[in-house]
Amino acid sequence: MAPAFQKPFIGIGILGLGVVGSGTVDLLQRNQAELEKKIGIPIQIRRIAVRNLHKQRSVQVNPALLTDNPYEVLDDPENDIICELIGGINPAHKYVMHALKQGKQVVTANKEMMAKSGHDLMHEAAHRKLDLLFEGSVAGGIPIIQPMKNALAGNLVQEVVGIINGTTNYILTRMSKDMADLPDVLLEAQKLGYAEADPSSDIDGYDAQYKIAILSSIAFTSRVNVNDVYVEGIRSLAQKDIAYARELGYCIKLVGIGKRLPDGRMQVRVHPALLPVSHPLAATSDVYNAVLVKGDSVGDVMFYGRGAGSGPTGSAVVGDILDTCRNLKAGSTGRVVCTCFEKRDIQPMDEVETRHYIRMSVQDRPRVLAAISGVFGDYNINIEAMIQKTIYGRQTDIVWLMHEAPGKAIREALQIIQNLDVVVEISNWIRVEE
Ligand SMILES: NC(=O)c1ccc[n+]([C@@H]2O[C@H](COP(=O)([O-])OP(=O)(O)OC[C@H]3O[C@@H](n4cnc5c(N)ncnc54)[C@H](OP(=O)(O)O)[C@@H]3O)[C@@H](O)[C@H]2O)c1
Repeated sequence: MAPAFQKPFIGIGILGLGVVGSGTVDLLQRNQAELEKKIGIPIQIRRIAVRNLHKQRSVQVNPALLTDNPYEVLDDPENDIICELIGGINPAHKYVMHALKQGKQVVTANKEMMAKSGHDLMHEAAHRKLDLLFEGSVAGGIPIIQPMKNALAGNLVQEVVGIINGTTNYILTRMSKDMADLPDVLLEAQKLGYAEADPSSDIDGYDAQYKIAILSSIAFTSRVNVNDVYVEGIRSLAQKDIAYARELGYCIKLVGIGKRLPDGRMQVRVHPALLPVSHPLAATSDVYNAVLVKGDSVGDVMFYGRGAGSGPTGSAVVGDILDTCRNLKAGSTGRVVCTCFEKRDIQPMDEVETRHYIRMSVQDRPRVLAAISGVFGDYNINIEAMIQKTIYGRQTDIVWLMHEAPGKAIREALQIIQNLDVVVEISNWIRVEE
């Protein structure tokens, strides 16, 4: 039997006191008495490492707790749990590995680190029978990792689909509700603090790429190399696309999609998609996130809430801390280990079959439609619906909605169509999800 936990308190060392660190510290301090009752032992924040000791903090902390030397947190023998809330790969990965090698339990919200190099950390934690929990790394305050690893573990997950980036969801919501253009909404989102000064990680889809890589690795019990995950952001979306999609009965969302395929492979991808307005994810607006999990026994389960921010992500981090405290007390840390025991390949996007939305600008001349639809026909692509709108004088917008076709067929057909002399430009190509 594992030895009982002997200390009179559980010591917490925190790396980082930014957005998530502040939310975590605030919650641990605010609900301290309640948490002690829940766990049956005091939880003490012993030390917090920051970069700049003189920075104004959004949470009140005893200045004596702060240090600018992370090793004073990592090497303190009284710290049982290290919370890594710095972000990025370096030095976060080095610190987490150091903590594990010292026999410390680790809680992190670092999606980039877990997606890119979580494997060796999980391996080290399992080898030493330690907890390494990362609920805050995906969808902020929404519990999704723990439910998938525990309550839903009996299922073969068929699909995990989510709106997992609040910044882009806010931008798309505003574009849709207020008919605003992307650059204007992005500026507004930056002013409101919903988007970073450098918005690339959100806008270009990388943030969602890390998250869907993590979710798919859990869902399909396979390591997912984040570099193999197709990613396409929202930069090319125009107000027109939102309007035409609405006319066809759809909204446009940036989605992360993981699917189990019958041939043993999986789809893992991030891109804008047209979703029918009746789709369960379609009503997810503003900075909210939602994740839909399809299990072979449970059916559809939907998780919804705030996907980022100090309070919501702090809630996820503190949940992991409490879980770890309980495991420490019971001598049962390292119970839920890495579940990536399979090696599945990711289906290339050329093979992925979906329906498609294509917007193009063409000259307003006879036989244009025949020329274009002829090329689609050559590639076995069936047209489901079409909108044609003359914009100015001799130029026309044509929007096509296509039946299911593999990405390769559409890509090759569009390469030919864009060289037809009647075609001014292919303006956008967006996949349609059911
Ligand atoms: N923000 C969110 O809503 C959110 C949601 C989910 C997950 N996450 C993840 O949570 C993590 C933290 O994000 P955040 O938004 O809280 O970041 P943040 O606001 O930039 O805070 C980072 C903190 O780490 C400290 N720090 C940076 N480098 C350090 C170093 N070398 N040694 C010691 N301290 C260092 C900074 O110190 P100073 O304050 O002194 O500069 C700061 O307190 C990231 O992995 C992020 O992806 C964030």
